[in-house]
Amino acid sequence: MDCITLVNVYKRFGSIEALRDLSFSIPCGGRYALLGPNGAGKSTTMKILAGMLKPDQGDVFIKGLKPGDKQVKRIMGYLPEDPMPYRILTVRENLEYIAALRGIPNPKEKAREMMEKLDLVQYENIQAGKLSRGNQQKLAIALVLLHNPEIVLLDEPLNYLDIPTQEKVIGMLRQMNATFLVSTHIMSIATRLTDHVIVISKGSVIWSGSIVDLKSMGKEEEPIESVVARLMSNVG
Ligand SMILES: Nc1ncnc2c1ncn2[C@@H]1O[C@H](COP(=O)(O)OP(=O)(O)OP(=O)(O)O)[C@@H](O)[C@H]1O
Ligand SMILES: [Mg+2]
Repeated sequence: MDCITLVNVYKRFGSIEALRDLSFSIPCGGRYALLGPNGAGKSTTMKILAGMLKPDQGDVFIKGLKPGDKQVKRIMGYLPEDPMPYRILTVRENLEYIAALRGIPNPKEKAREMMEKLDLVQYENIQAGKLSRGNQQKLAIALVLLHNPEIVLLDEPLNYLDIPTQEKVIGMLRQMNATFLVSTHIMSIATRLTDHVIVISKGSVIWSGSIVDLKSMGKEEEPIESVVARLMSNVG
């Protein structure tokens, strides 16, 4: 069964065509990277899947339901490109509030667990708006994962994180049994977190396949980044 489906999706912002006849699907439990040059439409795709934006045309289904459906929201975790926790709430308050909204039985305990997992305990009483950018990103990740979502949309998730935290988050995500769509410009993130790749350019899919296939398209010892750059530059 497919958990994520886009069929002939179009999205325009004024004169800019952000998505143009975009179609792809991801089976339940699939781990997919969404790649593409700047402005290709990755974040727009994520926003549509998260129910934050409506497509102009086309169909989008999450487990057969519309994005933004109550049932979908319950099982989805979406990390936007520029996440913004509640600035005036502290780290702990943000986590407890979202855990309570999500109906988690013991929000205080869950908040503590997430702070411990992401090394946020020392900042628990700091307002989110006063955190460093990397610590804000840690909090945003904690807020997205606290309900153990079945469908996880991550838009450049490791941006701003220090290296030990990147390793920790990669470990956490690899352990989760979920359907993943991760947009990134860092190929090591794609290869460590996912096994399939969808490459889009100018709002349409230009290549999709497994990471194994992608690697096999390279010449001997050619780095995967170079293969991907070639794919992206072949599109006029
Ligand atoms: N709210 C908006 N208003 C106007 N144009 C927008 C808006 N959001 C996106 N766009 C345009 O839509 C296109 C796709 O943008 P999008 O943010 O989806 O790209 P992206 O693939 O995520 O790029 P990046 O790699 O830089 O994050 C771009 O041309 C962008 O300028
Ligand atoms: Mg983007």
